[in-house]
Amino acid sequence: MQMPAELLRALALALALRLLVLTGACKDVRMANEVLAVNQPFAFNCTHPPLTFGDVNVTWYKAPRNISLSRNITWRIHQEHTWILILPLSLEDSGMYQCVIKNTKSCYRVHVNLTVVKNYSCVSSGSSLPSLSNEYSQILYTGNSGSLRCHLYFPDSCLLDSIKWYKDCKEITREQQKFVSSDMKLFVYNVSAEDGGNYTCTAILKHQAHPRIQYMVLNSITVSITERGRPGGRIPKIIYPQNNSIEVRLGSMLIVNCNITDTKENTNLRCWKVNNTMVDDYYSDSKRIQEGIENNVSFPEHIFYTVNITFLEVKMEDYGLPFTCHAGVSAAYIMLRFPAPDFRAYLIGGFVALAVVVTSVLGVYRIFKVDIVLWYRSTFHSAETREDGKLYDAYVLYPKPKRDNQCHKVDTLVLKLLPEVLERQCGYKLFIFGRDDFPGQAVANVIDENIKLCRRLIVILTRQSSSCGLLKNLSEEQIAVYSALIQDGMKVILIELERIEDYSTMPESIQYIRQKHGAVRWRGDSTEQSQCSKTKFWKKVRYHMPPRRYPPFPLAQLQRHTPYIYTAGKWEPNVGPVTH
Ligand SMILES: *[C@@H]1O[C@H](CO)[C@@H](O)[C@H](O)[C@H]1NC(C)=O
Ligand SMILES: *[C@@H]1O[C@H](CO)[C@@H](O)[C@H](O)[C@H]1NC(C)=O
Ligand SMILES: *[C@@H]1O[C@H](CO)[C@@H](O)[C@H](O)[C@H]1NC(C)=O
Ligand SMILES: *[C@@H]1O[C@H](CO)[C@@H](O)[C@H](O)[C@H]1NC(C)=O
Ligand SMILES: *[C@@H]1O[C@H](CO)[C@@H](O)[C@H](O)[C@H]1NC(C)=O
Ligand SMILES: *[C@@H]1O[C@H](CO)[C@@H](O)[C@H](O)[C@H]1NC(C)=O
Ligand SMILES: *[C@@H]1O[C@H](CO)[C@@H](O)[C@H](O)[C@H]1NC(C)=O
Ligand SMILES: *[C@@H]1O[C@H](CO)[C@@H](O)[C@H](O)[C@H]1NC(C)=O
Ligand SMILES: *[C@@H]1O[C@H](CO)[C@@H](O)[C@H](O)[C@H]1NC(C)=O
Ligand SMILES: *[C@@H]1O[C@H](CO)[C@@H](O)[C@H](O)[C@H]1NC(C)=O
Ligand SMILES: *[C@@H]1O[C@H](CO)[C@@H](O)[C@H](O)[C@H]1NC(C)=O
Ligand SMILES: *[C@@H]1O[C@H](CO)[C@@H](O)[C@H](O)[C@H]1NC(C)=O
Repeated sequence: MQMPAELLRALALALALRLLVLTGACKDVRMANEVLAVNQPFAFNCTHPPLTFGDVNVTWYKAPRNISLSRNITWRIHQEHTWILILPLSLEDSGMYQCVIKNTKSCYRVHVNLTVVKNYSCVSSGSSLPSLSNEYSQILYTGNSGSLRCHLYFPDSCLLDSIKWYKDCKEITREQQKFVSSDMKLFVYNVSAEDGGNYTCTAILKHQAHPRIQYMVLNSITVSITERGRPGGRIPKIIYPQNNSIEVRLGSMLIVNCNITDTKENTNLRCWKVNNTMVDDYYSDSKRIQEGIENNVSFPEHIFYTVNITFLEVKMEDYGLPFTCHAGVSAAYIMLRFPAPDFRAYLIGGFVALAVVVTSVLGVYRIFKVDIVLWYRSTFHSAETREDGKLYDAYVLYPKPKRDNQCHKVDTLVLKLLPEVLERQCGYKLFIFGRDDFPGQAVANVIDENIKLCRRLIVILTRQSSSCGLLKNLSEEQIAVYSALIQDGMKVILIELERIEDYSTMPESIQYIRQKHGAVRWRGDSTEQSQCSKTKFWKKVRYHMPPRRYPPFPLAQLQRHTPYIYTAGKWEPNVGPVTH
């Protein structure tokens, strides 16, 4: 399908119009008049505030022609980034220059009317000279200290050094205590009327394209002296710092602003000092700590100044040292300090450590509980235990032995091993039914009378199914008595003679105790080894026993209990005189 000719034409027209708008409509925003002496380098930065961000194209032209200036830095006149640079000026460079600042949306044009005048120097300066654009004027106030700034602005490719200051064509030397030169500033102490005059700062400029060529640049400042202004209003105010400290990590970089408000007329000296020396001088070798370039913003009533101090790397020696910002008579310092330790981390760490310690102590205690308690008892054994009116340490309750092979184990344990270990070796006093009761005594009476005299109740448990099951051999009343005692808080030691799976047929009190305190399982036999109070089983039993009250029984006392040993089984009593 073919497009109509009219439509094509309209489109072409629209495109052409749009191109016209894009290329032609550059807004003239600024006209700068620059008057400079011949033979000096000249630099001018093309800036227009709204366009300093983003993708911006800056192009310099010399007016009659519309060919952009070279960007070849070896050329005498060339463009460097946003700058025009002329190294050095000759008389024929006078004329109009323009730079076009373009981005995708807009276009601005800055005009520079450059006038190059004949040789101007301190020596040849005469009243006939026009006032140059690199001449500035400043006011200093009597009685104060003030500073003058050398206004030399060049792109980064230019190196400025050997800055010298002249007053009325005489060089200011280091011997003159009144003046201190630092970088681009000249500090004037104790300003008096004689300090007014024509000041000049000169510098040697080297450009990176021709490092061996030295150009001289200068800047003149006409200084007038004024009597003190209104008192009070004159004192500059340091908003920050306020003699505060700053947390900073060792080795990090730090920039601190000194924010000052000062009245417009003031030319107070503003700087950072350490140990009463300008930081730039104090660290002149390492340049580790530097003073920034002063910035200012004008307000109707005052000027807001910012001058920063940059620590490229914070070192040990900086901590605790006051870095003072001075503004005329005002001063305020900052001090660096180490970052406060993170207390939360410490706290959490502490709790974790504590928890670990506590759990491991508990774990160790759980594992070695028996040993620890036994060791404690043997080490800190005290004979002064309170009298509790009890006669025996434990009442041994066990299935009534019958002439049955299965019950042989019970007999061995109760009548041989218990007395051997607990009585002979450990010095406990046991009441063993069938050994310590008197023949003919009513069973109920024996239990009633003796059990109350015991501190513990040892119950030997066997499987209910076996013929010597405990409960099969106990009367209802007996069980009731035991249960009552157990519920009374009497401590019970359950000794399982064999593995017992089913407790449900046992009395509730036994079930309860088994659940709460567990039972000690007998695994030994009647060998020598099983008769040692140091085996695991006996340690467990001893652990449940009360602390020993008496040293092992004297012979006579022991014998009072031994004649009534049950003699029916194969086992023969083995409780002899104790020798310790
Ligand atoms: C020169 O101008 C550009 C913007 O055109 C700006 O980014 C830069 O900071 C200026 N340089 C100086 C030293 O003022
Ligand atoms: C800037 O100019 C160069 C060439 O002069 C051109 O390639 C580039 O697209 C321009 N950029 C903008 C944002 O105009
Ligand atoms: C630049 O010069 C050419 C001729 O060399 C001319 O056609 C063009 O219109 C000029 N452009 C501007 C913006 O002056
Ligand atoms: C810059 O100009 C010089 C001659 O003035 C030339 O030798 C050199 O190649 C040019 N450099 C570039 C990058 O164009
Ligand atoms: C440029 O400045 C000179 C004096 O400094 C003046 O005579 C001349 O008219 C100015 N040119 C323009 C175009 O403004
Ligand atoms: C000015 O010219 C004199 C000689 O006429 C010369 O000695 C002096 O260095 C020149 N000054 C500058 C700044 O170029
Ligand atoms: C400033 O002047 C006072 C007296 O006006 C004098 O005592 C003081 O020494 C002077 N200080 C300097 C640095 O010249
Ligand atoms: C400073 O220079 C101006 C001219 O620029 C001159 O009128 C004045 O007398 C000079 N002052 C001194 C103290 O030399
Ligand atoms: C100091 O001034 C700077 C620049 O205006 C600002 O960013 C900074 O927040 C100020 N600092 C203080 C402590 O007021
Ligand atoms: C500070 O300056 C004094 C002299 O003004 C000097 O004696 C002292 O050593 C300096 N301290 C440091 C840490 O440089
Ligand atoms: C500190 O001063 C330097 C030099 O004037 C400047 O480049 C830098 O941006 C300043 N830093 C801050 C945080 O103001
Ligand atoms: C800060 O310390 C300086 C002395 O270094 C003192 O003159 C000033 O009054 C102090 N400022 C404040 C706000 O404490």
